[in-house]
Amino acid sequence: MEIVREVDALKARRATWPGPVGLVPTMGYLHEGHVELVRRARAENATVVVSIFVNPTQFGPSEDYGRYPRAFERDCAMLEAAGTDAVFSPAPAAMYPETFSSWVVVEGVTSRLEGASRPGHFRGVATVCNKLFNIVNPTRAYFGQKDAQQVAVIQRMVRDLNMNLDIVVVPTVREADGLAMSSRNSYLSAEHRAAAPVLYRALTVARAMRREGRDANAIRLKMAEVVRAEPLAVLDYVSIVNPSTFEETESLNGPSLAVLAVRFGATRLIDNMRLDE
Ligand code: PAF
Repeated sequence: MEIVREVDALKARRATWPGPVGLVPTMGYLHEGHVELVRRARAENATVVVSIFVNPTQFGPSEDYGRYPRAFERDCAMLEAAGTDAVFSPAPAAMYPETFSSWVVVEGVTSRLEGASRPGHFRGVATVCNKLFNIVNPTRAYFGQKDAQQVAVIQRMVRDLNMNLDIVVVPTVREADGLAMSSRNSYLSAEHRAAAPVLYRALTVARAMRREGRDANAIRLKMAEVVRAEPLAVLDYVSIVNPSTFEETESLNGPSLAVLAVRFGATRLIDNMRLDE
């Protein structure tokens, strides 16, 4: 497995790789959810590239960029075992030189929920993904369903800007108690970790209510009630949305996605579940 640090070096290596090429963009501190993305990319492509880049532009001033967990050597060992061909891990200055001044802004789908809670976050995500797509020129790029609004933003950007790749969405990988895997789970204290499966409980209740034919409003209220019954959990938002537009939906006849964000101390976790599947 080769490790490439420079943008020009990556482009030069790319020219020699057999296609199709699968890209798995990550911020490192990998877990089984990332490994699942790599496995899927391995099964579908001749060359698999994983980027490890903690992207400073998607963190707000009061967010955790400085303390975001990093474990490069461990990540590389996991990626090699999963069959990765190359890791692209540039320095921040290689991606954002002093002269940097161009941004990708996806409107509409970014206006609510994560976009409202984290101003500027999706501008940073869309910009870095566009840069990674330009540098790696992948046939396919792989994203986890756990970050459902991020998926909707990337899909919208790829469609709107006629980008020449396919976006593959891979189901969320969960711990045995239902907690969605996330690098941020490592911040949780033992007490908060024990409380965190409340997100999954709220989502499974939502899906059961959908199957019983209950309406969107009743489901939203019940999800909030389930979260509030957990003393260590602070509800940020709960919503039932169209999974492509992220607009609130009242009709459960078409595609619908239950989403929520919950704080445990300083750690904020998100999760989601399709209600129509
Ligand atoms: O989901 C992530 O880890 C990041 O948002 C991504 C897609 C790698 C962009 O920095």
